[in-house]
Amino acid sequence: MVSIFNTYEELSDFAARQIVSTVQQNPTAVLCLAAGDTPHLTYQKVVALANENNINFLDVIFIGLDEWIGIEPATEGSCYHFLNEIIFTPLSINKEHIFFFNGMATDLVKECKQIDAIINAIGTINLVLVGIGINGHIGFNEPGTDPQSNAHVVTLDAVTTKIGQKYFKEEKSLTQGISLGIAQIMASDKVLLIANGIKKADIIRKTMKENISNAVPASFLRNHPNGIILLDKEAASEL
Ligand code: F6R
Repeated sequence: MVSIFNTYEELSDFAARQIVSTVQQNPTAVLCLAAGDTPHLTYQKVVALANENNINFLDVIFIGLDEWIGIEPATEGSCYHFLNEIIFTPLSINKEHIFFFNGMATDLVKECKQIDAIINAIGTINLVLVGIGINGHIGFNEPGTDPQSNAHVVTLDAVTTKIGQKYFKEEKSLTQGISLGIAQIMASDKVLLIANGIKKADIIRKTMKENISNAVPASFLRNHPNGIILLDKEAASEL
């Protein structure tokens, strides 16, 4: 399903309300949220809505979607740092409820297995919110990704390593990432993909109009029974 909003603000408001109502209905909900520029306003709105309506996130569980390998969690620009600043700390999330990839782990395969085991133990992720890269990636599932994959180490696409610099104060060597796999995203109860701005229009057209395939990983979401693509007018302008 696709929903088109007049503005980024309206899109963010809708996405925020989806997250908050998931927690309102299920205070022990399991959430998996992307980092990045697109969800910035959504998360600010989640915090505001939670505070205004006294919605308690203390028992919510957070599963990390992805992380840059070789970047410390405490470094500004890491996925963990972003989410910690914008959502975990403002909502006083219990650190024991946050299961995030450590991009500095010496044994990255073990890191993947740990997250897989946590997801298996929990059962289902209730809500995943992803952005989309201009190459069609969701999480760090780059073009060519195996749709059956669980958590895995990824060699990042050249587009991702170049654009990824925007999150960091100083230039970083970004060659690999660690990510939940398409199979785990597809097994979640609900997936929201959010995209705004004209720079996402071309990949949104490919996502929605071209064949569903790993050439555009986001296109798999069209097969999700509860997958919602939320776009502002600019991102939807080539549909
Ligand atoms: C980040 C992530 C990425 C981003 C995507 C879009 O955790 O999973 O897939 O969602 O690269 O990034 P922005 O929103 O910065 O355009």
